[in-house]
Amino acid sequence: RIYDNSDTASFQVATEISQLIRQRQKQGKKAVIGLATGSTPTKVYDFLVQFHREEGLSFKNVVTFNLDEYYPMQPDSIHSYVRFMNEHLFDHIDIKKENVHIPDGQLDKEDVRDFCRDYEEQIRKAGGLDIQVLGIGRTGHIGFNEPGSSLKSVTRMVRLDRVTRLDAASDFFGLENVPTKAITMGVGTIMKARRIVLMAWGEGKAGIIRQAVEGKIRESVPATFLQHHPNCEVIVDQAAGSAL
Ligand code: GLP
Repeated sequence: RIYDNSDTASFQVATEISQLIRQRQKQGKKAVIGLATGSTPTKVYDFLVQFHREEGLSFKNVVTFNLDEYYPMQPDSIHSYVRFMNEHLFDHIDIKKENVHIPDGQLDKEDVRDFCRDYEEQIRKAGGLDIQVLGIGRTGHIGFNEPGSSLKSVTRMVRLDRVTRLDAASDFFGLENVPTKAITMGVGTIMKARRIVLMAWGEGKAGIIRQAVEGKIRESVPATFLQHHPNCEVIVDQAAGSAL
């Protein structure tokens, strides 16, 4: 879907999420939502906060699982995705702390494998992801599933692509400060979500969006795996959709 701009597109995505939450509330059930970081989803989070404040949308029945976190990463660091999520969403809504899940960037190396296995288990126990929100990296990564990630990959520690690290360099005040690793949900974890919404804004994403949507399905562009998903929508503004 190509929208005039990222505002109207983000409003649409936030509205879909709020409808899911309300529908689950009526059923006395939880809504299980996979969340992303980066600049792309921030307006969606702004609208969700607005719906909470102005329309009384409650997040008490919402369980969230974030896609990824840098490794190593302290949660209070300005670069951590924990801090990002608190600042953009969680600090402004009534979600229960115990319902928020973000990969732990401060684990000892030897504990990462167990943590990742448990993350998968927790998603499964929560009933699976009702919806997964995604951005896309210039390498075609989803979460931090860089080129070479397989369709069946699960939550794990990964090495970041140089392009991804270059893109993050200004945030980290220099490439040398960007972590070389991350913990991410796998492509397989993402593919199990019942609904997927991938968003992209701006000219800089036009090329990779074209590859993701129209390109051959292959490991060198992990977002192409989404073409296999029965209920995935790619939502772009005019600029990001300009090469389609
Ligand atoms: C990071 C995140 C991805 C995100 C990507 C794009 O690499 N781990 O989940 O999709 O950045 O970032 P942005 O939305 O800022 O373009």
